[in-house]
Amino acid sequence: MQHEETAASCANEAVAALRAALGADIVSLPDEFGGRQFADWSGTPSTEPVALIRPRTTEEVATALRICHQFRQPVVTQGGMTGHAGGACVLGGEVALSVERMNGVVEIDPVSATLTVLAGTPLQVVQEAADHAGFMFALDLGARGSCTIGGNIATNAGGNRVIRYGMMRDQVLDVEAVLADGSVIGGQRKMIKNNTGYDLRNLLAGSEGTLAVITRAVLRLRAKPRAISTAWCGMPNYAAVTTLLGRAQERLPAGVSAFEVMWPSYCDFVRQRLPELRVPLASDHAFYVLLESCGADPERQSAAFEEFLADMLDAGVIADAAIAQSDADAAAFWAIRDAPAEYPRLIPGRISFDISFAVAQAGDAAQRCDERLRARWPQATILVYGHLGDGNLHVVVQEPGWTDDAIAEVKRVVYELTGEMGGSVSAEHGIGEEKLSVLGLSRSPAELAAMKAIKLALDPHNILNPGKVIAG
Ligand code: FAD
Ligand code: LAC
Ligand code: ZN
Repeated sequence: MQHEETAASCANEAVAALRAALGADIVSLPDEFGGRQFADWSGTPSTEPVALIRPRTTEEVATALRICHQFRQPVVTQGGMTGHAGGACVLGGEVALSVERMNGVVEIDPVSATLTVLAGTPLQVVQEAADHAGFMFALDLGARGSCTIGGNIATNAGGNRVIRYGMMRDQVLDVEAVLADGSVIGGQRKMIKNNTGYDLRNLLAGSEGTLAVITRAVLRLRAKPRAISTAWCGMPNYAAVTTLLGRAQERLPAGVSAFEVMWPSYCDFVRQRLPELRVPLASDHAFYVLLESCGADPERQSAAFEEFLADMLDAGVIADAAIAQSDADAAAFWAIRDAPAEYPRLIPGRISFDISFAVAQAGDAAQRCDERLRARWPQATILVYGHLGDGNLHVVVQEPGWTDDAIAEVKRVVYELTGEMGGSVSAEHGIGEEKLSVLGLSRSPAELAAMKAIKLALDPHNILNPGKVIAG
């Protein structure tokens, strides 16, 4: 009881100091929140913070963290709140620091092919700015309109084009960030090669608000593809899916820029629940692949793409295929893959998994997962799909009326299987609060100890997003 009282008065003192230093425009109190939501997409319970800080500059972030460090005041950093792991949720007693006012592209350097941006800028704004300047920003995911660059770095987001361009960490040349004690690191370097000791930029990629507040980044731009070929393929079995992946990487002149796989459960669900979307093939297949190849030579590329698919059809690798004849066709294929944006409306109370395996094992993992869940919950909705070219499966499970115990049991079944098969409990969404207790299934005790040592060194008072990523 005494401890609780001390914590409460400390929080108030910290908030008073924050408000005195930064003003009421930047630091608002609960009665000024105006119905604002503080939860992300994970379903993790989230409460109101003790204050909301909305800085405009890195210096204001530094001032806020210096005060929080001094008063041992916990801080949860919030971006677009599209995360799937509860990392941005408020567990109780934190101040929330939103980077929403740190929004804008600072500079595009066409010679170095870089784009410097503030952390609160939505991903889509960056994609459009890059496109406008004659480049491509390679990260792409369904939440592009709402998620922020800071959140993308903090979660090391993956998405649709990882197979060709890598994850968010591969798009970042430098990160400016404020450490727990208010000191500012990095942020201006544009070079690709930089071996000057430990790579702090890569340490922050995937740190989920536990090591620093990211305020700005120098991003790497890629050549804008002049030709994008897209096909929707119906596949007879999993061996055919992996054969198609291997052959496409070998034979397509521009390689593979997306290889998204959907199990029939997913496509049937989209057909039934989103009838306004046109699923390209009328026939039923064991798997559906959305294959994309981005290149520089429109004529050569489209001929080679069509010839490749014809060969795969002749060889029986593909059972049937539709090739996009226009940007509108390609957008219609992608709309089916982007259907998860509708989940909150269509599948309330869903449990979402983001697991990964070696590509060779992912089909087996998905089948075993489905069988184990079906054996216990025959009526449940179970959707399987994912960025299979990266071994990444998304499994979505729901049954109306499930109790907390049933939900815990579903998670146990999926994560135990993932651990048994040597998979990862998070391919791209991160650990947040949701997966804290299962991190040990994918990380050794020595790795966990190394992570804790890093956390302790950079945030000795554990003020940055406590209760997320690592325990204690
Ligand atoms: P938030 O949800 O606000 O925060 C996420 C985490 O990052 C939290 O731990 C938070 O504390 C931290 N954080 C946020 N900003 C900062 C900052 N400036 N400094 C330090 N820490 C910070 N993810 C994928 O990887 N691949 C996908 O294909 C994909 N598809 C999605 C599709 C949909 C429809 C949706 C809703 C989400 C999808 N996501 C996907 C989830 C993904 O994690 C987020 O979309 C995105 O990367 C999070 O950005 P955000 O700004 O919303 O972060
Ligand atoms: C997707 C998100 C959920 O790929 O990661 O749809
Ligand atoms: Zn995904």
